[in-house]
Amino acid sequence: MLDFQLSTKDFNLISELVYNKCGINLQEGKKELVKSRLSKVLREKKIDTFHQYYKILVNDSSGDEIITMIDAISTNFTSFFREQKHFDFLNSNIFPRLKKNIYLKKNDSIRIWSAGCSSGEEVYTLLICFMEYFDQKSTDNFHIFATDISTKVLNKATRGVYHKDYCKNISLNLLRKYFQKGSGNSDGYYKVKEKYSKLIDFQRLNFMNPFNLANKFDIIFCRNVMIYFNKETQGVLVNKFWDSLKDGGCLFIGHSESLMNIQHKFKYIAPTIYQK
Ligand SMILES: C[S@@+](CC[C@H](N)C(=O)[O-])C[C@H]1O[C@@H](n2cnc3c(N)ncnc32)[C@H](O)[C@@H]1O
Repeated sequence: MLDFQLSTKDFNLISELVYNKCGINLQEGKKELVKSRLSKVLREKKIDTFHQYYKILVNDSSGDEIITMIDAISTNFTSFFREQKHFDFLNSNIFPRLKKNIYLKKNDSIRIWSAGCSSGEEVYTLLICFMEYFDQKSTDNFHIFATDISTKVLNKATRGVYHKDYCKNISLNLLRKYFQKGSGNSDGYYKVKEKYSKLIDFQRLNFMNPFNLANKFDIIFCRNVMIYFNKETQGVLVNKFWDSLKDGGCLFIGHSESLMNIQHKFKYIAPTIYQK
């Protein structure tokens, strides 16, 4: 198999492009990772060199090539009930408060955003937790929004089909309640029941662009995304999340992330959880 050479010059050009398009910060240490992830694209598209590929990317007026490149470069690891403490905190602290509000102000709705949802495990976990806590009839007042920059993972998230090995963190009871077990060709797979998956509004959204969102949120999960951005980009993003939250709304970030050295107005309420 042809081994593509990635010169430091081309690596720097591609890194700068990635940074400008989606904020992901690829330092020198990521050169081998970029080479291996993008080599697959070069092979599929029958492009001979990284330099040619770079030229195709910068001249791509449709934006399709950039999307393919970002799909290949971004790290999409996720899992159901990842960082369980956040879901415990929702149950013990946030949901009880929201429940009170919903009964106080009859017309209000609860809005949750999984920002950087990857292949959907995070947003389906949020949905399960919500449905388990609230009366299932509450779905009229419940809006859940899930976004990612990568079309590849968004397609998977929208399909909501997962191999049984990926469902290990879901109890049998919840699996039966929220998923349909596959048979025949789909043996070994679980699909989120349509009555639940249809409650989620999946959209492609690049954090580097203006949000233009019609409504504000009670809860934003943006976990294990900012880790790929530099402090400056993180600062801009965190302030955009502030603007997108209702008063009293909460931002959840990944367990290994922090808002240290970022100028923001959030109140720290628990590890990696911040309130407006
Ligand atoms: C590691 S996954 C995290 C998934 C999930 N939030 C979790 O914690 O399990 C990071 C996701 O961020 C997305 N992402 C990276 N840069 C982005 C950007 N500029 N705008 C929107 N999403 C982005 C990637 O496509 C990827 O799916």
